[in-house]
Amino acid sequence: MDWGLSNRLSRIIKSDGRTVMLAVDHGYFQGPTFRLENPKKTIEPLLPYADAFMLTRGALRSSISPKFDTPVVLRVSGGNSIVGTLENEEIITSMKEALRLNVSAVAFSIYVGSEYEHQTLTCLAKLIDEAQDYGMPVIAVTAVGKELEKREARYLALCCRIAAELGTSIVKTYYCDDFEKVTGGCPVPIVIAGGPKLETDFDVFKLVYEALEKGAVGVDMGRNIWQHDYPIPMIKAIRAIVHENATAKEANELFNKLKKEKK
Ligand code: 5RP
Repeated sequence: MDWGLSNRLSRIIKSDGRTVMLAVDHGYFQGPTFRLENPKKTIEPLLPYADAFMLTRGALRSSISPKFDTPVVLRVSGGNSIVGTLENEEIITSMKEALRLNVSAVAFSIYVGSEYEHQTLTCLAKLIDEAQDYGMPVIAVTAVGKELEKREARYLALCCRIAAELGTSIVKTYYCDDFEKVTGGCPVPIVIAGGPKLETDFDVFKLVYEALEKGAVGVDMGRNIWQHDYPIPMIKAIRAIVHENATAKEANELFNKLKKEKK
């Protein structure tokens, strides 16, 4: 692997081979999502606890101080919205802009099986060709659109493998039953999204713990962290699972302790 690409990746996936990425890119198609209405207020307090954070250039420039050292993953696909056709994404930000913003990776969503499968896959391949010239890692997001029932191993394994074959450095997908079939068929590191906010805190910790047990290298999680009443204890407890091998039960205990101490 070229030095630049390897160096950028090592800023995201830490020396233990794991990562806690904070996903805060939701506004690019969802608008002012609950508790991300003011990006600066939500994101900046969490940055010291994130290994990387993922957002658009607009949110980055308008809301985040350039003095933060946390690596940026720049969302470069979009052009869609929740009231339009969700799957209709293309490249919306150039590689020149990604370099200008000094980001550590770019992220692009693919919609396998949708009307826009070919468009999103060929855009991803073109993005990777260009990114290779500059040592820029590409993260593919295996988006499911509005069909949430697609979150099953056979489908996600297909999406992740296709993304890896096209040359992505990391794949972001959803956790599902038989998740080992997804990681087992994907030769590049996988991180999981959290999805909509789960019922209990323990559900979140269990999701993260099981995903790691079944081969994920970490998370790229959003709503289950920053839609929580206690986002900092939440991300700290998730870090304990990812970087300190805590169990879901231990993470839950740590979360309750930090919550009480207001840390
Ligand atoms: C949308 C994304 C989001 O960043 C992703 O869904 C992660 O956030 P959450 O944990 O809230 O699901 O990539 O395509």
